[in-house]
Amino acid sequence: MRRKLVVGNWKMHGSHKGNAELLSGITGARPFGCDVAVCVPFPYLSETAVALAGSDVRWGAQDCSAFEQGAYTGEVSVPMLAEFGCRYVIVGHSERRAYHAESDQLVADKAKAALAKGVTPIVCVGETLAQREAGETEAVVKRQLSAVIHTLGHCAGEMVVAYEPVWAIGTGKVASPEQAQAVHAVLRAQLRAAAANADAMTILYGGSVKPDNAAILFGQTDIDGGLIGGAALKATDFVAICRAAG
Ligand code: PGA
Repeated sequence: MRRKLVVGNWKMHGSHKGNAELLSGITGARPFGCDVAVCVPFPYLSETAVALAGSDVRWGAQDCSAFEQGAYTGEVSVPMLAEFGCRYVIVGHSERRAYHAESDQLVADKAKAALAKGVTPIVCVGETLAQREAGETEAVVKRQLSAVIHTLGHCAGEMVVAYEPVWAIGTGKVASPEQAQAVHAVLRAQLRAAAANADAMTILYGGSVKPDNAAILFGQTDIDGGLIGGAALKATDFVAICRAAG
């Protein structure tokens, strides 16, 4: 049995006061029967590390540079994230692919940079509504994942994958459990061809996961937890989703 993982993606939300309340709401609700992490904006990594120290809730970032250091104004490197105790970094979120023109190869390079420093990349893949309607879902997610598999080589089994249909992110339109499971099965099959431990790998679902739909999604064979956006900003909702996974 794979242990479930629930990761909060705070996106560009937060404040010192709000973060403290949210994090204490999460730690105060432990123990969870699943692994739990929060991916916070860079400036809040330090206070998050302090707030979560000594708990089993982990933390991470939402992006990283593919480079270790250098003249890359505005970028944050994986060694920096590692210094702040990050266990995870999200790479290839659809918002970064869309608004920052991140290519499949750049996403793969970021994933490789993360693993090289012992930070687990959460690699996001997913199709747009137009791609789904054109029957391209499988081809799109396979293309996105294969760039990462090829770049990671024998380390591919160490990443976490997140399937996030773009049309379900922040829209309230959740993929049905059957739709999500079908894509997760495709991704698992692709991983089997690349990694000996594919059946032990974690594939998260993301896109409008809420307390009332989490259990049925997480109950699907190949869905190993969730990447949670909006509902990760309210402790009671996030905790309810973690409970649904445990
Ligand atoms: P959502 O976002 O839960 O608000 O749809 C998920 C994500 O973008 O990771």
